[in-house]
Amino acid sequence: MNTDTQLQFVTTTHPTRTSPEQIAASIATPMFGRVFTDHMVTIRWTDALGWHDAKVEARRPFQIDPACAVLHYAQEIFEGMKAYRGEDGAISLFRPLENARRFRASAARMSMADLPEAVFLQAVEALVAIDRDWVPGGNGSLYLRPFMFASENFLGVRASSEYVFCVIACPVGPYFKAGKTAVNVWVSDQYTRAAPGGTGAAKCGGNYAASLIAQTEASEKGCDQVVFLDAAEHRWIEELGGMNVFFVMDDGSLLTPPLSGTILPGITRASIIELAKREGIAVRETPYAFDTWRTDAASGRVKEVFACGTAAVVTAIGQVRHADGEFTIGHGDEGEVTRHIRTLLTGIQRGKIADPFGWVHRVK
Ligand code: PLP
Ligand code: COI
Repeated sequence: MNTDTQLQFVTTTHPTRTSPEQIAASIATPMFGRVFTDHMVTIRWTDALGWHDAKVEARRPFQIDPACAVLHYAQEIFEGMKAYRGEDGAISLFRPLENARRFRASAARMSMADLPEAVFLQAVEALVAIDRDWVPGGNGSLYLRPFMFASENFLGVRASSEYVFCVIACPVGPYFKAGKTAVNVWVSDQYTRAAPGGTGAAKCGGNYAASLIAQTEASEKGCDQVVFLDAAEHRWIEELGGMNVFFVMDDGSLLTPPLSGTILPGITRASIIELAKREGIAVRETPYAFDTWRTDAASGRVKEVFACGTAAVVTAIGQVRHADGEFTIGHGDEGEVTRHIRTLLTGIQRGKIADPFGWVHRVK
């Protein structure tokens, strides 16, 4: 059993690495999640050996047996994080240990192997280091996708005795259509994302699979994202399909739904709360009903609303559609407070603004 907090990685570089010209072309107009870097990191886990066989190698398909547990019972978790290239060329990650901690929490909820935070960080840093030429400058970033799946070939319903941990990466630009200053959201009154006691707080693939029908419905309604309400009363705002949500009230304060166990504890969400408090902006983590939102938008009590997450960064919500109609938030565009929060957060992430929190993690 390997109990070391650091693993020895065996590195094999890609035999035909992408040329600098091709990388430059991919980075110039990156689509979210379509183009991948040359390498991947894999680490295997078995009951007998613990974490072992750590590799950095050319990105390649997995060979999976049809009886592989993840294909049947969806024991899979993932993370989403970004590497940024500062103006001085230095590459950094944003609060990567928070991703490592959340990954452990997701693994615990899904009865999966516990990956030490130090190994998670080692793996992510190893991939960024070998594929560092792929980290875009400017407003782009390298999106990192650490994930783990049950790899035992067995159809019995129980926790797998084997897992594969992997990290892949892709250069990305904005998650939403470039140039869009505000997005539209569809409030689902039919589908919920997570119930108390369920897996809402874990970043497991199954949560996203279950959300896709509502996301498809949102697209059909001309919306960019779906807003989920709570499962018990269909009344309280929870989060979006892939991001948390903040409301800017007319007194300048922020309101965001609390971490009740049914929403993902977003690292962007947590950072915005700390950032806002430091700016002297009051933040309340309190339940907020959809009906109240509608009334407050009409009365002007809610001035701005924004979505936040690693992929979405900070994105204004301009229009809200639901079964009974639609309403606009403020002028339907990005508001002042949203812009201020976005500028501060991205400034720290990209090293343009001093980081008073110790959030920025340099990659050597
Ligand atoms: N909520 C959901 C469902 C998400 O998928 C994400 C994205 O990861 C978030 C919230 C935001 O989390 P974070 O800020 O850690 O990226
Ligand atoms: C992320 O922000 O990292 C996510 O996983 C959400 C998804 C919309 C890409």
